[in-house]
Amino acid sequence: MNEKKYKVGYTCGVFDLFHVGHLNLLERCKKMCDVLIVGVCDDTYVCNIKMKKPIINENDRVRIINALKCVDRAELVDIATIDDKVLAYERFHFDVLFSGDDWKGSERYIRTEEQFKPLGVKIEYLPYTQGISTTDLKKKIKK
Ligand code: CTP
Repeated sequence: MNEKKYKVGYTCGVFDLFHVGHLNLLERCKKMCDVLIVGVCDDTYVCNIKMKKPIINENDRVRIINALKCVDRAELVDIATIDDKVLAYERFHFDVLFSGDDWKGSERYIRTEEQFKPLGVKIEYLPYTQGISTTDLKKKIKK
């Protein structure tokens, strides 16, 4: 019997220096859907928006995410697809978008919730793993 809440789920992120916070998120997503699609932010986005070059290049980050048991499909996404989740929906046809709970209530996600209502797409906010991030890892390595 299929007990999962959703059929196709989508999330996106940079996933540079892959760590257990990333794994926790992706495993939580997969527990809630049959098929998990992951958008991996391209290098141009990371350089322009986060103002830093990823340590692991975009093709390698996609390969790593694609190799995970909890991920069914990972593909590079560009700035337009990252900013406008309706574009992501038109490309991947998911019925749930997973996001970190730090985004809940933000202007961008209030707008996305409104855009998704007529499409029947839900948003699930998942807990962020405290105590680890790519930024923290970089700092530790530098020390
Ligand atoms: N994430 C998480 N818990 C963490 C780190 C990341 O749940 N400790 C989630 C983010 O909420 C996002 C996805 O993993 O949905 C990809 O996040 P990303 O920005 O690549 O990871 P960070 O390690 O937070 O990177 P940075 O320090 O550069 O912001």
